[in-house]
Amino acid sequence: MATAEPKAVFDVESVRRQFPALAQEVYGKPFVYLDSAASAQKPNAVIEAEMQCYREYYSNVHRGVHYMSQKATEAYEEARDKVSSFIGSGCKREVIFVRGTTEGINLIASTFGRQRVGAGDEVLITAMEHHSNIVPWQMLCEQQGAKLVVAPMNQRGELIFEEYERRLTERTKIVAFVHVSNALGTINPAAEMIAAAQERGIPTVVDGAQAAPHLGIDVAALGCDFYTLSGHKMFGPTGIGALYGKLEHLIAMPPYQGGGEMILTVSFDKTEYAEPPAKFEAGTPNIAGAIGFGAAVDFLRGLDLEAVAAYEADLLAYGTAALQAVPGLELIGTAQHKAAVLSFLIDGVHAHDVGTILDHEGIAVRAGHHCAQPVMDFYGVAATARASLALYNTRQDIDRLIAGIGQIREVFG
Ligand code: ALA
Repeated sequence: MATAEPKAVFDVESVRRQFPALAQEVYGKPFVYLDSAASAQKPNAVIEAEMQCYREYYSNVHRGVHYMSQKATEAYEEARDKVSSFIGSGCKREVIFVRGTTEGINLIASTFGRQRVGAGDEVLITAMEHHSNIVPWQMLCEQQGAKLVVAPMNQRGELIFEEYERRLTERTKIVAFVHVSNALGTINPAAEMIAAAQERGIPTVVDGAQAAPHLGIDVAALGCDFYTLSGHKMFGPTGIGALYGKLEHLIAMPPYQGGGEMILTVSFDKTEYAEPPAKFEAGTPNIAGAIGFGAAVDFLRGLDLEAVAAYEADLLAYGTAALQAVPGLELIGTAQHKAAVLSFLIDGVHAHDVGTILDHEGIAVRAGHHCAQPVMDFYGVAATARASLALYNTRQDIDRLIAGIGQIREVFG
């Protein structure tokens, strides 16, 4: 008789032991970190990889004939390989190291965007974008005389797909949307959104900053033209991220910044540019950061990501139920498909007071507009408190959050 496959088990305690920051106390209380959507904590492997680079083989990359430069170049390029295979890109030349998602989107808007978008054209985004997927497109539209069009969402914070499709017209030259919303946790139907744009010949840019730490990313299966990542949200260092772009686009796009390493030849009359990815990596890159990012990818690949997803889904369900049981608390963002984010309001208490009181209980959450002011406007609020989860959080962390909210009630009645 066939037996059911045993469910993959995720050992959160062994993962937690790899994150030294989590073992600390804050104000004499065990530290609870619920702000991973802002930036994730780092495992020892990432810290060590970056330190090892500086200690043992630090040098500039692609520029030296000497031993250390060769070694640093190998490690830097190996990190590119790791990121490329982690996101399912068929070719490492499609991966450009950037500072993070913000720089990735600015790069696309300033190069591909300027080539493609002209007067009277439209760029389509959604109502749940982070500022980094609004402002670069707004700047582009202002420069080119084009229009920024917004696909609306419903009260749960879900894209209204028919409205999105209705806005895909012959004027739409680029579609840019967030895979997972940082303010609401909504998981957008990325594959369907890309397919709808593709049917009409419209290229797609996906902001994957919040998706990559939680969902398996496969850019080839998604079929998007561009995908952006932030290393620091994926347990990697700050100041490093990646932009995936289809090679045909990267070859046709003009450079983003001029400088060293992005050229083949330079004279005062003319410069010939290097091939991608070098064409888009002017100047000395974040060498140790890229190597640390590679280590973060190794860390993620060392886990059973399906088991991680199941664990996080359980945690999110537990947190959602616990918060919904708190009198006077309203959850903002209740999409059916959601990841890792619990944004909330407490009746009569400003979100910043919520954040401050929780902080004194040793619990880190973010309070504010989460760089998504249009989302706040949609809900008619200035700010929310946001607890964001990662694979190292536990039900005990949620219980501490609920107890901390109890303290808020004691202060504010
Ligand atoms: N985008 C980051 C956040 O959601 C900083 O907090």
